[in-house]
Amino acid sequence: MIKNDLFLRALKGETVERPPVWMMRQAGRYLPDFMKLKEKYDFFTRCRTPELATEITVMPIHQVGTDAAILFSDILVVPQAMNIEVEMKPGLGPWLPHPVRSSADVDKVIVPNVHETLGYVMEAVKMTKKELNDEVPLIGFAGSPWTILCYAVQGQGSKNFDIAKKFCFTNPQAAHTLLQKITDTTIAYLKAKVEAGVDAVQVFDSWGGMLSPEDYQEFSWKYIQQIIDALKPEIPVIAFGKGCWFALDKMAVSGASALGVDWTCSPHMARKLTGGKITLQGNFDPSRLYSPPSEIKKMVKQMIDEFGKDRYIVNLGHGILPDIPVENAIAFVEAAKEYKAR
Ligand code: CP3
Repeated sequence: MIKNDLFLRALKGETVERPPVWMMRQAGRYLPDFMKLKEKYDFFTRCRTPELATEITVMPIHQVGTDAAILFSDILVVPQAMNIEVEMKPGLGPWLPHPVRSSADVDKVIVPNVHETLGYVMEAVKMTKKELNDEVPLIGFAGSPWTILCYAVQGQGSKNFDIAKKFCFTNPQAAHTLLQKITDTTIAYLKAKVEAGVDAVQVFDSWGGMLSPEDYQEFSWKYIQQIIDALKPEIPVIAFGKGCWFALDKMAVSGASALGVDWTCSPHMARKLTGGKITLQGNFDPSRLYSPPSEIKKMVKQMIDEFGKDRYIVNLGHGILPDIPVENAIAFVEAAKEYKAR
């Protein structure tokens, strides 16, 4: 049994002494030890070497004290396994030299055997579980099919993913074929992670908020729902859609164990939209971690008061920024640990 099971209990909706806390992208660049490894090994080497992935995954547990670990990896290992080349360019981010732009390109995309192509991730899960020694749960993750399509078609990060949207709206049939291939791969991938030992999974829909509410249902949510349906008999699923507050009502009846919320939606509004019963996760503005630690603590206390201590997981509304001082991240975590209801 896992010693600190606050996170898993919050996912089940149980009453807890205090809400659990972790941070999206917690295994990353704001940690000086991570930067040391980054000097020695390139990004995908870190992802593909189970010893390195394990070392990075446990860093925030020891150094910041979060109540859950999230496996160090990336959402873009999935398109790599599907025959879509992905590079990580320092200073630029993801770079796909041959983006998917036509029906013929979609035909070349494969649904791989995930054990063969992504076996290194399962090795990293097993090694990390051993290293964690049941202290805290381990979260596995994948990008949403829509968010993966955004990178596969656009070929790099973007402010509006205009090329990806143009592809969907001019060639919807090819777009849906691609989304289904990504969905099938993602389901097999997450099931393999569950088999390897993760305790919960999160689907990151980082670019869902680029779509109108109607297009969101058609090009994103429909596929996330398939993932939830396939995984929920086995494990708690968290669905995080950045900028997707408009879809929270539908998400609340999807079978997900928890929903991620960003900082543009107030806790009160998020509770109202989701009917007050489902566990919510979020929603501290990542830039607010620039505030002094004393102010961060006050704001976190207020955030917990507003969400309520039960059915709630303290987190940021998106990933932690690279230049946040470690002591500010620690203040964020400590505030949750010190929480006492009024
Ligand atoms: O949460 C964690 O700490 C676990 C590891 C993790 C990474 N990426 C490591 C990473 C997770 C959960 C991700 C998810 C991810 N990757 C998302 C969804 C969440 C989000 O932030 O929206 C997305 C969109 C990606 C794609 C991606 N990977 C981008 C856009 C970039 C470059 C920009 C950036 O943040 O640096 C990456 C690279 C990446 N993935 C880094 C890390 C630690 C930094 C690059 C490096 O270390 O060399």
